Amino acid sequence: MTEGPNPLPFDSFMNPGLGKYSKAYKESIETPEKFYEGAAWILDWYSKWDSVLDKSNEPYYKWFVNGKLNVCYNAVDRHANGNRRNKAAYIWVDEKGNEKIVTYRGLYKRVNALARALREMGIRKGDRIAIYMPMIIEEPVAMLAAARIGAVFTLIFSGFGAEAIAERINDCGARLVITADGGYRRGKIVPLKESVDRALELTKTVETVIVVKHTGSEINVVEGRDYWYHDVVQDKELVEPERMDSNDPLFILYTSGTTGKPKGVVHGNGGYAVWIANTLKWAFDPQENDRWWCAADIGWITGHSYIVFAPLILGLTSILYEGSFDYPTPDQIWKLIAYYEADILYTSPTAIRALMKYGDEYPKSHNLSSLRVLGTVGEPINPVAWEWYYEKIGSSQCPIIDTYWQTETGGFVISPAIGIGVAPLKPGSATLPLPGIDPVIMDQDGKELPAGEKGFLVIRKPWPGLMIGLNNDDEKYRSMYFGKFKNMYFTGDYAIKDKDGYYWLLGRADEVLKVSGHRIGTIEVEDALLSTGIVAEAGVFGKPHQVKGESIVSFVVLKSGTTSESPVDTIKNGVRHNFGPILIPDEIHIVGSLPKTRSGKIMRRIIKAVYQDQIPGDITTLESGASVEEIKEAIEKFRKELKMANDQ
Ligand code: WT7
Repeated sequence: MTEGPNPLPFDSFMNPGLGKYSKAYKESIETPEKFYEGAAWILDWYSKWDSVLDKSNEPYYKWFVNGKLNVCYNAVDRHANGNRRNKAAYIWVDEKGNEKIVTYRGLYKRVNALARALREMGIRKGDRIAIYMPMIIEEPVAMLAAARIGAVFTLIFSGFGAEAIAERINDCGARLVITADGGYRRGKIVPLKESVDRALELTKTVETVIVVKHTGSEINVVEGRDYWYHDVVQDKELVEPERMDSNDPLFILYTSGTTGKPKGVVHGNGGYAVWIANTLKWAFDPQENDRWWCAADIGWITGHSYIVFAPLILGLTSILYEGSFDYPTPDQIWKLIAYYEADILYTSPTAIRALMKYGDEYPKSHNLSSLRVLGTVGEPINPVAWEWYYEKIGSSQCPIIDTYWQTETGGFVISPAIGIGVAPLKPGSATLPLPGIDPVIMDQDGKELPAGEKGFLVIRKPWPGLMIGLNNDDEKYRSMYFGKFKNMYFTGDYAIKDKDGYYWLLGRADEVLKVSGHRIGTIEVEDALLSTGIVAEAGVFGKPHQVKGESIVSFVVLKSGTTSESPVDTIKNGVRHNFGPILIPDEIHIVGSLPKTRSGKIMRRIIKAVYQDQIPGDITTLESGASVEEIKEAIEKFRKELKMANDQ
């Protein structure tokens, strides 16, 4: 295992040493009650909790038991009614350079107005609503308004299509959808309302749709169901925030797993808010007058936690950008950083690699000296990209905060923590666990592995940011996360801990892909392929990709009688139409048959091994549930298939 180049001499220009980190870490592990008692006062509570943690119903953990709070109050009201009232909460900008600055007071007005409209439409505490929007101010406003009245929202990434939307609405039973007429992507309009219309043909629970006029494109309006945002949302009386229990749900965010159906990760109010606000401070040490740019999409957990809730709770100013980093020109992101004088940039390794490919002259031609701290998330960052980011973007002056976490963990769990201490960085390592996180590397049998050995990353103790459950899926919550190693959180990732205690993340240990940092299930892609109507069978796997980290490779068998002249295009268009562009495979290979076990299970790993020409000597490790003979036969047969497909 590589440990990358020498640790960087951070001590030379930042507070030297681990500082408060070691003490905080020790306290968090040895006396968590005491530690979290302090950490929780980052929020205002209506009434204090009876106990910090209730473990009586493991693996369901209750944090700040009986504590009452409102997350919207913490994110908006307390600033809007205090010294930050005229401070910018968001500086919104789009690809064309249109700009909108929303102060905390302005945000407060907008959130109240929407909360009032939701109430008037009959939405009550505990009701579910869905949000499907471009990156506009109304997106955080919708999340905050829901949080204000205690409605549980699920936000659906705008790159998903109708069937993916319907699947999520059906799983959570959303009564209302907030969307927009469209969004912009690389100068083109994405017709969001149209996807909602098609999704609603597949669902029964939605009574009302609120539509923000954003692009001005024509939409279909269903009488009695669809309303323009500007017609129903008006500046009226304020809405008192609901007093939420710390362990009430705040939102549901669907994420990919090893089955076709996405899992609805449920986050609560108290524990979640305490965790994200503290971790943002610990990891990035943001300052009062900073401009914080978490350049992710709000549709993922990164955006939920670190574009919306945490920076607002801390009263920061965020840059919110609707657009691509390299559109209209390859230096778009550097232009924006220079113009808005961003202090902190937090983005993904994929984005860094893509920008790196354009060459150094683009960042060089802009003044990036406002940057003080840089961050990454979503996938392991290779040392080459790390160094480019460090040298060319940060002028070798900015620490790189490589934050390891997941949708389920709510916020960062392993990351440098310059807010509480500085350990030397090692390019490619997320470094040390944050306070409260007790990781361990285990083998298949639950034996702790020594430093330097690759194993499963497991977290032994619960922490407040951990999800409070899976929507409608108690069984999966228990078995997938706490079943492999009893009552310990199984991350699904491989990792190594080095001799200095640093963690090196080595990718997923399951059938989940990381494509451009997005989590995509192989079976989910197979389902999307089957949904096109011309595919009879599909096998999907990931292959390393220089920029995206991984790309999606698929092998399909067409339905007999398929007449399409260009089936690959038909398949691509079908996937885009049904599930959205995000699930379109990079490669679609058409073959006559796929290797299968006797019980009919597609042998994905054999397809992958034959395709990559990497059949291991011991083929029994390739597939469980099939005999060696069967596997050999399958390999031979598939080799022929591949050859035939290549010859065509
Ligand atoms: C998976 C979680 C957390 C927000 C975005 C992704 C991978 C995440 C890192 C990192 C190496 C990382 C893991 C993890 N991952 N951050 N810094 N280094 N790998 O959230 O979609 O829930 O994906 O992303 O494989 O399990 P997500």
